[in-house]
Amino acid sequence: MEFKNKTAISTGAASGMVLLFAQNFAALGGNVVLADVNVEALDEKVAEINEKGVGRAVGVRCDVRDYAQVCAVRDRAVEEFGGIDVLCHFAGGTAVRMRKVNREECPEFPDVPIDIYDWGIDVNLKGPFYFAHAVTKQMREQKSGLIVNIGSITGAEGDKYGMDYPVSKAGLMFGLTKSLAQFGAKYGIRCVCVSPGPVLTRPEMAKMSTPLGRAADPQEIIDLILFIASDKGQFINGENIMIDGGRNAMTRSVPKKPET
Ligand SMILES: NC(=O)c1ccc[n+]([C@@H]2O[C@H](COP(=O)([O-])OP(=O)(O)OC[C@H]3O[C@@H](n4cnc5c(N)ncnc54)[C@H](O)[C@@H]3O)[C@@H](O)[C@H]2O)c1
Repeated sequence: MEFKNKTAISTGAASGMVLLFAQNFAALGGNVVLADVNVEALDEKVAEINEKGVGRAVGVRCDVRDYAQVCAVRDRAVEEFGGIDVLCHFAGGTAVRMRKVNREECPEFPDVPIDIYDWGIDVNLKGPFYFAHAVTKQMREQKSGLIVNIGSITGAEGDKYGMDYPVSKAGLMFGLTKSLAQFGAKYGIRCVCVSPGPVLTRPEMAKMSTPLGRAADPQEIIDLILFIASDKGQFINGENIMIDGGRNAMTRSVPKKPET
């Protein structure tokens, strides 16, 4: 695989899977624009990629909830590298975890303050929507481009507590990805959602079960995305691809026992 003269925007790129995507894309010759709210970590990671001297990287501070900041990332990619071949939108996570909600104080869904869920829906659903809106303007002009959304097994399973997360992820997995594929086809724009089960970006993910008896190594998720972005993956479009060790199959066949 080679991404020489290709440019990717990756959001949420200061850590985790999308940082790994940016590192891989650059190692394969591509240019990357890394966007995140966490500027300190971002600057360090951008410098590391540039030190390797293969693909070039720039970092842009961006809160994906702010449309003007989203457009600024798009504009920077175009100014710096002349276009956008791939948008890999990964910024996000469960609001109750990321906003550090105390489960003892807020034991159930209605106890969690609504602004926590608002934050989750803004980051996990509105953020990808904003980015899709901003980059398709450029991709339509270029008559090419790939948008990769990141879903989650939770989008298919639901979550009775961290409810912003499955609601947002299901929106990406089924609504946004199909709609963008329908819009983009005549302009050569593809959209694919990649939906992992547990991934070892945090050690606690090892506790989530899968039929294969393990969580994914982050590189396994990135390899799939690189394939979709490569010359070999060009016919994949409008699809939600679960990469979960078979957990989704298990969810359908073994219903959870209802709580009393
Ligand atoms: N780790 C898993 O098991 C798993 C499973 C399924 C799906 N996912 C999804 O994959 C994506 C990446 O997961 P990860 O574990 O690598 O995440 P991570 O927590 O390591 O990275 C998320 C990044 O998003 C950034 N971010 C948060 N809010 C932001 C905002 N408003 N604007 C810009 N950036 C913001 C954070 O600073 C962080 O760098 C997430 O969308 C997550 O929901 C993860």
